[in-house]
Amino acid sequence: MRKKLVAGNWKMHGSLQQNAALLERIRAGVSGLACDVAVCPPYPYLGQVQGLLSGSDVAWGAQSLSEHSAGAFTGEVSAAMLVEFGCRYVLVGHSERRALYGETDVAVAAKFEAAQRAGLVPVLCVGETLAEREAGLTGDVVARQVSAILDCSGVVAMASAVVAYEPVWAIGTGLTASPEQAQAVHAAIRAQVAAMDVEVAKGLRILYGGSVKPQNAKELFGRADIDGGLIGGAALVADDFLAICLAAN
Ligand code: 13P
Repeated sequence: MRKKLVAGNWKMHGSLQQNAALLERIRAGVSGLACDVAVCPPYPYLGQVQGLLSGSDVAWGAQSLSEHSAGAFTGEVSAAMLVEFGCRYVLVGHSERRALYGETDVAVAAKFEAAQRAGLVPVLCVGETLAEREAGLTGDVVARQVSAILDCSGVVAMASAVVAYEPVWAIGTGLTASPEQAQAVHAAIRAQVAAMDVEVAKGLRILYGGSVKPQNAKELFGRADIDGGLIGGAALVADDFLAICLAAN
């Protein structure tokens, strides 16, 4: 039985004051829940989050990382730095990183490896654009994004990773994949991994992301291969995020 995970991706939102108020509510609200909960704030707030969440039931992570371990890479942050700030998770290959910052499958695979080398749990984000879905390419695109990791790191790497299926057309748009649409893609990802290792596939947590709200979370999380959510906008509103965590509980 896979334990559900609800992770909040704050993207480029927050302030010291807002974070403190939000985290106080989340910390109290998820205490004792049976699912795993995490938040991914912008880098500068990781120290604050570490201070406020240490010893709680809420884990935290970063939204990206460098594939390099150290050196002359202005503006970049290494996996070891994230570990120093107590991160458990790190997102890799979020569609905004792929679309706005040109991250390729190869770059995402290198980041995934760098995360695992440091002991972080990479949350590999995959998903198709609207044009790709309309062209019937959803399965191909997602399989290619997953293959990039399997080819580079091997299937065993998936035993200590999380996958997040986030259809690009559902992110921040208020459009959600229907539970059937999401379940179909999740099942395909699991089958792809199972073709290489059945046990790893059984244990792999596959999250859904894209306009998850309190109103749709329970139905999504009720599907066989949907093991929780990666939450954007609703992760910034304590009541909404807590309601989504409860739906996963
Ligand atoms: P929204 O929940 O705002 O659609 O964002 C999803 C997302 O991109 C999480 O990584």
